[in-house]
Amino acid sequence: MSSAAANRLGISSSAKRLGLLSSAKRKKAYGDLTLERKGSSIIVLYLIFHVLFLLDLFFSVFNRGFFSEKLFGLFSCRPSSTTVGLSVVDHAAFGMLRIETYFKLSMMLPLVTCQWDDDFGHGGSMYAHPMDSSLLLSIGPNVDVYFPPRKRSRISAPFLFRGDKVEQQKQSSIEVLPDECLFEIFRRLPGGQERSACACVSKHWLILLSSIHRAEICSSRTTQCLKPEGGLVSDKADESSNLDTAGPLPVFNDDEAVCGDEDLEHESDGYLSRCLEGKKATDIRLAAIAVGTASRGGLGKLLIRGSNSTRGVTNIGLSAIARGCPSLRVLSLWNISSIEDEGLVEIANGCHMLEKLDLCQCPSISDKGLLAIADNCPNLTDLTIESCSNIGNESLQAIGRCCPNLQSISIKHCPLVGDQGVGSLLSSASYVLKRVKLHALNITDVSLAVIGHYGKAVTDLVLTGLQNMSERGFWVMGNAQGLQKLKCFTITSCRGVTDIGLETMGKGCPNLKQLCLNKCSFLSDNGLVAFAKNVESLESLQLDECNRITQSGVIGTLSNCGAKLKALSLVKCMGIKDIVVELPLFSPCKSLQYLSICNCPGFGSTSLAMVGKVCPQLQYVDLSGLLGITDAGVLPLLDSCKAGIVKANFSGCMNLTDAVVSAMARLHGGTLQLLNLDGCRKITDASLVTIADNCPLLRDLIVSKCAITDFGIATLSCSKQLDLQILSLSGCSKVSDKSMPFLGKLGQTLLGLNLQHCNSISSSTIEVLVERLWRCDILS
Ligand SMILES: *[C@@H]1O[C@H](CO)[C@@H](O)[C@H](O)[C@H]1NC(C)=O
Ligand SMILES: *[C@@H]1O[C@H](CO)[C@@H](O)[C@H](O)[C@H]1NC(C)=O
Ligand SMILES: *[C@@H]1O[C@H](CO)[C@@H](O)[C@H](O)[C@H]1NC(C)=O
Ligand SMILES: *[C@@H]1O[C@H](CO)[C@@H](O)[C@H](O)[C@H]1NC(C)=O
Ligand SMILES: *[C@@H]1O[C@H](CO)[C@@H](O)[C@H](O)[C@H]1NC(C)=O
Ligand SMILES: *[C@@H]1O[C@H](CO)[C@@H](O)[C@H](O)[C@H]1NC(C)=O
Ligand SMILES: *[C@@H]1O[C@H](CO)[C@@H](O)[C@H](O)[C@H]1NC(C)=O
Ligand SMILES: *[C@@H]1O[C@H](CO)[C@@H](O)[C@H](O)[C@H]1NC(C)=O
Repeated sequence: MSSAAANRLGISSSAKRLGLLSSAKRKKAYGDLTLERKGSSIIVLYLIFHVLFLLDLFFSVFNRGFFSEKLFGLFSCRPSSTTVGLSVVDHAAFGMLRIETYFKLSMMLPLVTCQWDDDFGHGGSMYAHPMDSSLLLSIGPNVDVYFPPRKRSRISAPFLFRGDKVEQQKQSSIEVLPDECLFEIFRRLPGGQERSACACVSKHWLILLSSIHRAEICSSRTTQCLKPEGGLVSDKADESSNLDTAGPLPVFNDDEAVCGDEDLEHESDGYLSRCLEGKKATDIRLAAIAVGTASRGGLGKLLIRGSNSTRGVTNIGLSAIARGCPSLRVLSLWNISSIEDEGLVEIANGCHMLEKLDLCQCPSISDKGLLAIADNCPNLTDLTIESCSNIGNESLQAIGRCCPNLQSISIKHCPLVGDQGVGSLLSSASYVLKRVKLHALNITDVSLAVIGHYGKAVTDLVLTGLQNMSERGFWVMGNAQGLQKLKCFTITSCRGVTDIGLETMGKGCPNLKQLCLNKCSFLSDNGLVAFAKNVESLESLQLDECNRITQSGVIGTLSNCGAKLKALSLVKCMGIKDIVVELPLFSPCKSLQYLSICNCPGFGSTSLAMVGKVCPQLQYVDLSGLLGITDAGVLPLLDSCKAGIVKANFSGCMNLTDAVVSAMARLHGGTLQLLNLDGCRKITDASLVTIADNCPLLRDLIVSKCAITDFGIATLSCSKQLDLQILSLSGCSKVSDKSMPFLGKLGQTLLGLNLQHCNSISSSTIEVLVERLWRCDILS
């Protein structure tokens, strides 16, 4: 072998192993048969195998069975017994050609198989090994026979085979065979690798292969059973198991059909997983995946995210998956209008182990498909239905009745789903259902009552956009006393959440730990405080856009909550006004560690100072976006915090001055790890001086858009105790090139440095820094 050839082979085979072959290389024309592919030797072999088989079928059909026994004899003995083939020469020269070919190929197979490669393009030698080519070139034209006419010109030369008979192939090829015959052949292929190789021949073959149900594949045992009548002997039966597990999968040349596309494959939880997105999601691809992974037990998880509505995934692709992947556990279909009930029925019939099903924007799937799932997949634990306009009550009822392991249900935007469906689902799954999410459904108080009575195992409940639920429903739900295990409760945009509704819920959910109320515009201070008094277990309370809540509601909640409240978050609560009120006697909330008040424009210094008094144990403070607060609010808060603040976010609090940072450094420097002063334009170098002196634990310092200069950077860099990892100077236009040595010094510990919009720093300085601080990510 020439060293060049060896080289090429070495490179290409290792590239193949590493999966490095560029997709461009694979993108040769997708003929119904392209021999210039890796793995095609196997195809050649099988083409021939098929033709032998087919010939036999033909001969038997036309009552010329003389060929049969000898032909099948071939497969039972090793190829070395050439005499068998020769003995049939007189009977069928045509067939003989293939028999000869079969021998040559099968003898060469080991060599050809491993050396076959993409590099052999059109017109090149088909054989990699120079020594083999003399032996094998002769079959080149014969193989052409199987090209369908539309892809390649018919062969011009007649078959010349050792000067024997001349045979002109007029009628095209293997494709004239009825699918039934091909099907019979395919299901007798000995191993998964062979099936994969055949699948690479044409889309037609692929689809046919993918239509074979696992049970229909002749295993070594069934093949043996056929022996007496069909004369078929599977000589390779014992090898097949090895091939099944170890064989590499061929790669499709078509950009839409790749079997064994390793880049998409991750083993998660011990099973194979694929995610197809957009235009990659086609039936061909699914069929390829089904055939390609069948020998490894098929996929465990399949996610399809969108698909071309005109030529995307249809029932055919899903059926292929159903046949090839009997152990599918997770199926997720998003935004696919072309999949209908038949597809889902196939899945239900083929994949009984399905545990998680997620249907989103699948308008062509109706109750019929989901009913089949309910009837056939008893292990279903998670069901998500979103924007499926044809799924209604009936299937949900069935799911509740037939799936005893259902733990999680999420229904969103399904106009046909009503109380009847939700109610019967929840009541049947009463003792197992843990997570319930209901979003934008036309359901009423009836469903709430059912949840309250039957939600005995529910730990997570999310109710969003349920316009037809009233205060009465929430009252009934709370009084039903069924939600004893409820831990996390999120309510968004439900008009029924009023003071009375919330108060009753507090009584009905004694173990609630986390409550999120979003856009509850009918809830006021009284309800919130009453709730806080009732729920002693509450650990986290989050209020987003609850505009009737005021300052006294916040203070009242904090001073009346149980001893477990750790976190309070208020976001965009517009009802809060910064008024001075005479505080009644209150008890401090000693458990609160996390306080987050963001983008509440009315929340000012007075409110902050009061909150500070009520919460002496704060460690994490996020006041970002509070434009109205000044030193007058933050200083008392810092004073009253006894635990030591660990993280502080003052992003956007533009009226804060160096006094705040100085107090922070002095009082909390021993604990402070993160300080965000983004946009605090009054912060100057003085702050950096105190930080440099007092904050040995500080890791993240964000002084973007502050009034700091080179002097501040120099001070920071001189601090012996500082060990910064993140520093953001973005938009600090007074920091100039002079800071370069100091930044270089700071950079010894930095992992991230933001120099965006630092107009006084030149690009050459940044280049030098990038080079010197190679450990540090520099944004510029
Ligand atoms: C869907 O397929 C058609 C035909 O191949 C193509 O013209 C169209 O751009 C595709 N649409 C999307 C969204 O990929
Ligand atoms: C759903 O798919 C269609 C194409 O079939 C696409 O135009 C649309 O943007 C997708 N919608 C979402 C929400 O992804
Ligand atoms: C359901 O799960 C159980 C336990 O994991 C298993 O034994 C059983 O075979 C599964 N049922 C089906 C139909 O897969
Ligand atoms: C589902 O049940 C509700 C009553 O709970 C009913 O109004 C609605 O029409 C039902 N939907 C279908 C499709 O039957
Ligand atoms: C909601 O359900 C009620 C009956 O429960 C029905 O009268 C009404 O038309 C439904 N509304 C919508 C938008 O489907
Ligand atoms: C609420 O119910 C009324 C009548 O029962 C119905 O007309 C309306 O469409 C429902 N609203 C929603 C958002 O489903
Ligand atoms: C501080 O608040 C801003 C604005 O809300 C946010 O973008 C940022 O992530 C917060 N920083 C930290 C460290 O929490
Ligand atoms: C905060 O500063 C802005 C100007 O930067 C000023 O208009 C505003 O009155 C100040 N707010 C308070 C509460 O001092």
